[in-house]
Amino acid sequence: MALQITQEQVESRYREYHARINDALAACFPKESPSTLYGPARYILEGKGKRIRPFLTLLAAEAVGSTADKALNVAMGIEVLHNFTLMHDDIMDQADLRHGRPTVHKQWDVNSAILSGDMMIAYAYELALKADSGRHKELIHIFNDANITVCEGQALDMELEKRKDVTITDYLDMISKKTGRLISAALEAGGVAGNGTPEQIAALVTFGEKIGRAFQIQDDYLDIMADDGKSGKIPGGDVINGKKTWLLLRSIERSTGSDRELLQSIIDNNGTTADQVPVVRGIFEKCGVLEETRQQINSDTEAALAALECLPGEGREYLRGYACILMKRDF
Ligand code: IPE
Ligand code: IPE
Ligand code: MG
Ligand code: MG
Ligand code: MG
Repeated sequence: MALQITQEQVESRYREYHARINDALAACFPKESPSTLYGPARYILEGKGKRIRPFLTLLAAEAVGSTADKALNVAMGIEVLHNFTLMHDDIMDQADLRHGRPTVHKQWDVNSAILSGDMMIAYAYELALKADSGRHKELIHIFNDANITVCEGQALDMELEKRKDVTITDYLDMISKKTGRLISAALEAGGVAGNGTPEQIAALVTFGEKIGRAFQIQDDYLDIMADDGKSGKIPGGDVINGKKTWLLLRSIERSTGSDRELLQSIIDNNGTTADQVPVVRGIFEKCGVLEETRQQINSDTEAALAALECLPGEGREYLRGYACILMKRDF
């Protein structure tokens, strides 16, 4: 019989572990000099990051029968690696804001953001090597594979910005790499740090791939739909940059007449201006794609939940509960 874990229990564990992760991250990068190297790393980690990936790492360790403590260093390594990807992503996306604050390359400059991000990669691997586990080689392999795959995804993201013939299949492949893999790696690394079996770890990876896809589709949705200021990003940044998201590609398929022409002009011109964002939002709504996007996020999450069947007990229910919370997030 399924154990009953309430949403309140999952939320309370999230709050507890979020605080634990933040305390541990605050102790990273204690060196003051060079300030343009360590300052940006501390700054990005002080932002209002949701800590989704390290939370999943801790839950994964518990789900294979170990403790969160045993996976804490690995969880921090994953979060540091994630924040390196964000620092470089903001340069690539020419994003001025993250969590309501100037991005690192705006607060400092592009060179500092490049170099500080590079240093964070190495730091993340040091944290993985501090894992309370005999399986360091596997952990490093997971970090490497995730890192390389995110770079592939980011390269594809940049290529798709310029291409005019992008399909939904291209988009889904790109997001599985730029976002899905680090989320699945967070779970995989937690499973390894917790000394899980190959079958358990494979289940965690599949779960991660599926919630990772839902997560990026939702990130794209929130990019244009988040209530004023709530995303802490420039609203509609993806449309302005000409990102071929699920929303844009599906809306081109489903709209007609001048609406369709306007959306097609975003593709033809590799983006648009900020004043067009509300118009584009209106077209997404009108052609039913916002509703379809929410359904897609729900069905990917359902598929993720099914992947956890083989995991034992309470840990599995926490992962499930958290996936359901993520599906409803609004920032
Ligand atoms: C942002 O990830 C990058 C994406 C993959 C969409 P998050 O939305 O998890 O960012 P933080 O960790 O809360 O800053
Ligand atoms: C982020 O995708 C993926 C990585 C950082 C690898 P986005 O570019 O959509 O992320 P945000 O919206 O800037 O956080
Ligand atoms: Mg990006
Ligand atoms: Mg971005
Ligand atoms: Mg985004």
